[in-house]
Amino acid sequence: MLRFRPDGTFRILLFGDLHEHADYAASPAFRDMQKLMNAALDRDRPDLCVLLGDNCNVTWKEDPAGFAAMVRAVCAPIIDRGIPFAPIMGNHEHDPGCDDAVVETYMQLPGCLMRNDAPGITGAANYRELIYDAAGEAPRFCLWFIDSNNLYPDREVSHYDIVYPDQIAWFERESAALRERNGGRTLPSFVFQHTPVPEEYRLLRKAKWWERPVSVKGYNTRSGTRYMLRPGCAGYLGEGPCAPDIGDGQFESWQRVGGVLGAFFGHDHLNDFSGYADGIFLAQHKTAGFRAYTDGCRSCVRLLTLDQRNLTTFTQELQRFKDFGLKSESLGPILRTITDRQSINTKITCGALGGIAALAGAGVAIKKLTEVSRHEK
Ligand SMILES: [Fe+2]
Ligand SMILES: [Fe+2]
Repeated sequence: MLRFRPDGTFRILLFGDLHEHADYAASPAFRDMQKLMNAALDRDRPDLCVLLGDNCNVTWKEDPAGFAAMVRAVCAPIIDRGIPFAPIMGNHEHDPGCDDAVVETYMQLPGCLMRNDAPGITGAANYRELIYDAAGEAPRFCLWFIDSNNLYPDREVSHYDIVYPDQIAWFERESAALRERNGGRTLPSFVFQHTPVPEEYRLLRKAKWWERPVSVKGYNTRSGTRYMLRPGCAGYLGEGPCAPDIGDGQFESWQRVGGVLGAFFGHDHLNDFSGYADGIFLAQHKTAGFRAYTDGCRSCVRLLTLDQRNLTTFTQELQRFKDFGLKSESLGPILRTITDRQSINTKITCGALGGIAALAGAGVAIKKLTEVSRHEK
């Protein structure tokens, strides 16, 4: 049972898009990721960890035992501390088409909460957890873990998949049951999901033509527009959010049901911005790993803190690899010291000054590096 601490707080630590590979045992990138996990876990001593999907490249079909060992190794810093953790399915967990085996593998791990609460509906692992008051008597908060599936069947319509009506109906049924059990009061909640909702674009605005160098291109069908963060939104916009290209009604369902204080997404490895869209806090969480495409030493974790004395709000804190004073073994000398936003600023400054070729070249190289494998989200 998850419950608030005697001091009334509950801490959730988020890890996004670790993307670990089968060669993890000899990988400096794996060691960097573990350093970040260990430092954050020691500092924050969370009550729950959430892995936001694309956790491990699935090798189940070729090597089930190897996949199980990799998942165990990736989660070891959490398991060894006896902390419960909740992984969710990312698109890469779906890729090999052995969803149930992937979920089963996670379910074998000590402290792992992942499961499928709703067999028969879309998705391999839709589930919820309640956080009880410190006395363990009554549920005070709900955590929803939603499977955002993989790719949309008709790629002309949307590249990434949607959350389907049967999943939304399950969320609404469960919410109604919880409300009834809670004396007619809606429990406040968080949603954790790999692929962001399209409503994340409400946190952005169209860039002016002169803002082009510091703006990002929208994803897929939105690629004709460049975007900046809206005033009032915090964090880093490093790429166009890779949400589905069409609405699926999930966000409207949250508004209809009520209680959803915030929703937290992985999938975009560079973005860590957050802000309110129509009263719901939406937060993009960047990778905490050093695989796939990364954000240099800015790989980070996010700490959410709830206080049962006031569950209308919460706090969040981003903690980057470099903030812990950690030294990377896997990044080259440029990415160890300069990361994306800084590379853009460097390029602008160099352009304004007439250019220092070496620095500009470095900036271009960094941008290219961060664009590598952008399709592999
Ligand atoms: Fe992804
Ligand atoms: Fe990813």
